[in-house]
Amino acid sequence: MNKSSAGPALIDPFGRAVSYLRVSVTDRCDLRCVYCMSEDMTFLPKAELLSLEELDRVCTVFVEQGVRKLRITGGEPLVRRDVISLFQSLGRHLKTGALEELTLTSNGTQLAKFADDLKRAGVRRVNISLDSLDPTRFKTITRWGDHAKVMDGIRAAKAAGLKIKINTVAMRGVNEDEIEDLVAWCGAEGFDLVFIETMPMGDIDGDRTAQYLPLSIVRARLERRWTLNPIADTTGGPARYTRCSETGGRVGFITPMTHNFCESCNRVRLTCTGTLYMCLGQDDAADLRTPMRASEGNGPLTTAVQEAISRKPKGHDFIIDRRHNRPAVNRHMSVTGG
Ligand code: 5AD
Ligand code: SF4
Repeated sequence: MNKSSAGPALIDPFGRAVSYLRVSVTDRCDLRCVYCMSEDMTFLPKAELLSLEELDRVCTVFVEQGVRKLRITGGEPLVRRDVISLFQSLGRHLKTGALEELTLTSNGTQLAKFADDLKRAGVRRVNISLDSLDPTRFKTITRWGDHAKVMDGIRAAKAAGLKIKINTVAMRGVNEDEIEDLVAWCGAEGFDLVFIETMPMGDIDGDRTAQYLPLSIVRARLERRWTLNPIADTTGGPARYTRCSETGGRVGFITPMTHNFCESCNRVRLTCTGTLYMCLGQDDAADLRTPMRASEGNGPLTTAVQEAISRKPKGHDFIIDRRHNRPAVNRHMSVTGG
């Protein structure tokens, strides 16, 4: 039997077992994607961050409580100094079988440097954000991004033997004409591809109604040329997957806006300052830093985690329209991770 049966499961009020923790290890990023943050984004003072040891401690408590998957996110997780040591220490839970999977979401800029270390630490899959295959357009979307560097990172991850999933935010009038090329490219490279709708999170400089492109349109457009057969989701995430007959690759759709993905939600999110968000689209949160620092033992922290899960809400209330052209939640995706 797996080790999860040893620990108590975290069950929320709607009977959903929380088995997946996403941890943002920094809110900083070396890019400035237009849908994510403004160019002059203000970041948290570094002194407020949990140390890497503290991040390990919180993650470990969650693993003891039955969490089976950890995803390290950001901001860009690989810009945090020494973050590889966190992967290495968390890797011990993979060895015991308590943890099934340790993954990360990255923008790819540092992967050429770190792919081998990540693989050695026990990482098997990585989600890489890539919204365009065109260097000039990539620069426009990310403001500061160097497409070649990200492509090097993707190649390094592939060479290291990591399984790759490309995340693409579909944006009206920005990259919608590349959707087909992305399917073809990912199919040829052996990467999964997941399209995401823009979500109203945090202030950005631009207008979200202009960017928003429903994935129902993307999918319909793809289906003119490709055969997309729905398949059962195997990753435990919110994406609906299809298999593209022509490329053999998986193509997924994350549609928080047009489809309610909350019913099967098995996840919670920890920020880099130790705040736990029980829902991506709600403001309710629990401070785990104070109970953790209150005691050398993990008793108060464990109690705080259980109490937080007992408050996990049913779902989000995202809405983007002209009357609601303001964020549904004030924090940015880079604070809680995707
Ligand atoms: N809406 C949708 N996707 C977003 N991402 C960041 N901010 C937003 C937003 N407001 C994406 C990133 C990355 C993933 C983790 O989330 O591009 O691929
Ligand atoms: Fe950085 Fe990701 Fe936000 Fe882009 S979407 S600015 S890569 S955190």
